[in-house]
Amino acid sequence: MSLLYKNISDRIYQMVQEGAFSHGKRLPSIRDLSLQFQVSIGTVVQAYADLERRGIIQSRPQSGFYLSEDFQLIPQERLLSNLNKSKYQTAPQKVKLSELLQTVTLSARDSKTIPLGAANPSVDLLPAISLNRVMNKCLRQSKELSIHYDYPPGDFRLRKELSYRSTQWGCSILPSDFIITFGAMESITLALRAITKPGDVVAVESPCYFGILHAMESLGLRALEVPSDPQFGVQVDLLRENLKRYKLKAILLTPNFNNPLGSLIPDDHKKELARLSRQYEIPIIENDVMGDLYFGKNRPRTIKSYDKDGLVVLVSSFSKTLAPGYRVGWTSPGRYYDPIVQLKFTSSGGTATLNQFAVFEYMKTGAYDRHLTRFRPLLKSNLDEFTRAVIRHFPTGSKVSTPEGGYLLWVELPKQINSLDLHQKALQERISIVPGSLFSVTEHYRNYIRLNCANPWTPKIESAIKTLGNITASSLTE
Ligand SMILES: Cc1ncc(COP(=O)(O)O)c(C=O)c1O
Repeated sequence: MSLLYKNISDRIYQMVQEGAFSHGKRLPSIRDLSLQFQVSIGTVVQAYADLERRGIIQSRPQSGFYLSEDFQLIPQERLLSNLNKSKYQTAPQKVKLSELLQTVTLSARDSKTIPLGAANPSVDLLPAISLNRVMNKCLRQSKELSIHYDYPPGDFRLRKELSYRSTQWGCSILPSDFIITFGAMESITLALRAITKPGDVVAVESPCYFGILHAMESLGLRALEVPSDPQFGVQVDLLRENLKRYKLKAILLTPNFNNPLGSLIPDDHKKELARLSRQYEIPIIENDVMGDLYFGKNRPRTIKSYDKDGLVVLVSSFSKTLAPGYRVGWTSPGRYYDPIVQLKFTSSGGTATLNQFAVFEYMKTGAYDRHLTRFRPLLKSNLDEFTRAVIRHFPTGSKVSTPEGGYLLWVELPKQINSLDLHQKALQERISIVPGSLFSVTEHYRNYIRLNCANPWTPKIESAIKTLGNITASSLTE
């Protein structure tokens, strides 16, 4: 699907990268660009809005558009470019990753290891003290809170708060349409159990978060990996072809700041995905765990916001934004509400009241929004630091993603590098990373790694990146 405004914003971005516009130099006016590209003023406005959203340019009142003050140029050859569409297309395959996953996760458990692996924010970036204060207040309020659990669908106060917030995701979900679960992963597993049976085919993004592939393996499902673009996420054209070719049972996507790419599916594509879901009557399980961690002006919409038929099962949690250990997640499962609530009863029963209540209280006082207002720019600045350090210290041929939200950096290494070996060597230096092989049932990402950038940027972290770069460089000459 080609988007005219995207073509223009990409062209301007390319000009920026090749040095046509430096800091302080005014970009062409909207009118000039519309004449030059022979498009409407509205299309140029959209293109400039897209560049603003990506943090590349900023408008100055009464003056025009300029490069953003904190925008750093990444050389073109260091950017992960669009994927070659045909190269990665594969047929449905059985998932068999659990052994590898166990080896990698178990080996990185040492608390002295520099944690660039697991996708949890460092506790130093989370509001642990204010959250603990709220938790203590909850405990003082009622002695029962810490003892009880809520039967599915979970705490009504929290569901009301989620309903209130759902307008930010482009939805208007009722409190009675939510089910609270044990993290997002329980919601995803329950949705897969409600919709599929062993042997069924589920379309996923490629690369895909390994937790999802692991859940699919445990349910005996086959994965159809649909290549994802580092910037725009799953390639909708390819998904459309696959819907014609294969009998898919579900589509499982992380549209907002996908793990590991950090890609963001544009609104037009989200709308088209909802339309395809309706046309083929195939549910979409939409994972939005990173949706609140956007760097642009507005919170991105969800596919659910375009769903009129209850076919989108929206899933999220507070693990990436607030407290992974609370295990508070939720789903709004549309027409799958009844089977999912039943499955929730039989899989884990109730959900701890105290954790749900503390999250509710934290949101109710406005503390959650205040935390996010501080957290998002911090993550962006960390990602920039990590990106610059990778470019500085990794050998030529290494490329980076450019996430528009979240805190994960996806790094392509020269072809000869086996990221599993790199992972082992890094562990000897007490640095954990996640090797790319975990993000696919294929071998496509053997020379990729994922870095967790939600760590305070310190000389120790920079030195860890330098060490990783040195190990990579020396592996090239072995
Ligand atoms: C994309 C994605 N989805 C789901 C999860 C799991 O979320 P939770 O801890 O809420 O189960 C993770 C955790 O890393 C993730 O990265």
